[in-house]
Amino acid sequence: MPENSSVPQNALQAKPCAIVIFGATGDLTARKLLPAIYNLTSEGLLHPDTVVIGFARRPKTDDDFRQEMLKGINSFSRNRPADNGIWEKLAPRLFYHQSTFEDAHGYASLAARLSELDKRFGLSGRRLYYLSTSPTEFSTIVAQLGEAGLGNIDPFNSGAWRRVIVEKPFGHDLKSAQELNHQINRVFDESQVFRIDHYLGKQTVQNLLVFRFANGIFEPIWNRRYVDHVQVTVAEDIGVEGRGGYFDTAGTLRDMIQNHLMQLLTLVAMEPPVSLEGNAIRDEKVRVLKSIIPYAPEQVERMTVRGQYVRGEKQGKPVIGYLEERGVAPQSQTETYACVQLAIDNWRWYGVPFYLRSGKHLKRKGSEINIHFNRAPGVLFNKPQRGTGANVLTLRIQPRESIGLQINAKRPGTATAVTPVQMDFEYHEAFGSYSPEAYERLLLDAILNDSTLFIRRDEVESAWQIIDRIEETWAAGKPPLKFYSPGSWGPDEAEQLLRGSGRSWDELPQESQ
Ligand code: BG6
Repeated sequence: MPENSSVPQNALQAKPCAIVIFGATGDLTARKLLPAIYNLTSEGLLHPDTVVIGFARRPKTDDDFRQEMLKGINSFSRNRPADNGIWEKLAPRLFYHQSTFEDAHGYASLAARLSELDKRFGLSGRRLYYLSTSPTEFSTIVAQLGEAGLGNIDPFNSGAWRRVIVEKPFGHDLKSAQELNHQINRVFDESQVFRIDHYLGKQTVQNLLVFRFANGIFEPIWNRRYVDHVQVTVAEDIGVEGRGGYFDTAGTLRDMIQNHLMQLLTLVAMEPPVSLEGNAIRDEKVRVLKSIIPYAPEQVERMTVRGQYVRGEKQGKPVIGYLEERGVAPQSQTETYACVQLAIDNWRWYGVPFYLRSGKHLKRKGSEINIHFNRAPGVLFNKPQRGTGANVLTLRIQPRESIGLQINAKRPGTATAVTPVQMDFEYHEAFGSYSPEAYERLLLDAILNDSTLFIRRDEVESAWQIIDRIEETWAAGKPPLKFYSPGSWGPDEAEQLLRGSGRSWDELPQESQ
């Protein structure tokens, strides 16, 4: 294991198992899952007898599947092209199983195949099911797994386990999430369910906890007495990238804010957990979500902004408008930009606004959290330039992971001129460029039965409770959808939302590209 690896110390205890990927011909398998499995294999973190079965509708041989996966690894893996030696060990353990998701025979033959592989590779009934299909298939697959007895554990085999990883989106609203939870929990106990949010697999997101709770100096000022407000930005410089059909039914609020940004918010705002055990952390995250009072319609109108990109130009290149994207309804009101001001009504954060924004085709890509502290009293240096120079702590998640603090310094010269300057810590300078992909960490954690970085049932439902109230008012056309040009920072209204209270959005720096 590399010295600076952040993979769990007990990673080498990973026992051989079968990873069954449902929807294996989809994008995620070739782009993320197989590259992750390849990297984990090459680092010796997966047991060499681990097998992968791709389950999907299209007819294909094992060999076709292997070739497609090799192509995926060669195009998308962080270590590429694939090393021949490693690939030759991995390839014979990749299999393809063709079936529709509704066909009971397909699951019966899967069961037979798994038993055969169990014997051949000594897997002892350890199985990880990965639901990487369209969300409309999730309940069918889980029900079929249940019917075929593939969710049950043989009581005479103490080493066996069954786990299921569920991709996002997890439901479309609270009701559908509850139904899905109910259907999954009919076959799998909650302890067997791993709901994925790939943001939790990102190194910098995990570093948030280390930053907060391994450094004594920040915790005392991490509250409403010292913090003026918090900004969470996840900006993308790309559009819907051929996913118009899905995206048009979701929108940015469901696709990004409900999960990734809410997760970032909970990690920033949570109380110190009693331990690093998965449920201890998730208990604290749920408490944060429960402290956010869902908005009444008039609050939604005042505190949220929704936007959609129009046809335009970015860096000299033409960009088609959202409505021209394939799969998007001609009159679609779906937002490609969302900005939400939330209030956490607890002792620590009472009165501190949390501003969350995310959008597609924005000026540049970047995800960061900015904690704005109260300004120093304006009696001495701040006097002539009141309104500038608050201390801002920036936790940059991507693309260049860093932690920065904006402080005020005296500009050289005879006059006493104060100017804000930046102190930065760059992860790659300190630790080199080794950084496992989110899916590597998450797959390994599921195999090791560590659910810390996965979303618990009550977490997902609490987040939907907040989002549903916003969606309901948006569906009634309030506030109206605004339009923005590609390459901008979204609709002007998002700037106005902060300006009303004398604040403004931080511009993501150029060098973060
Ligand atoms: C996914 C969303 O969950 O996250 C996509 O469905 C989005 O719409 C993606 O593009 C962004 O992830 P990342 O890791 O590139 O920031």
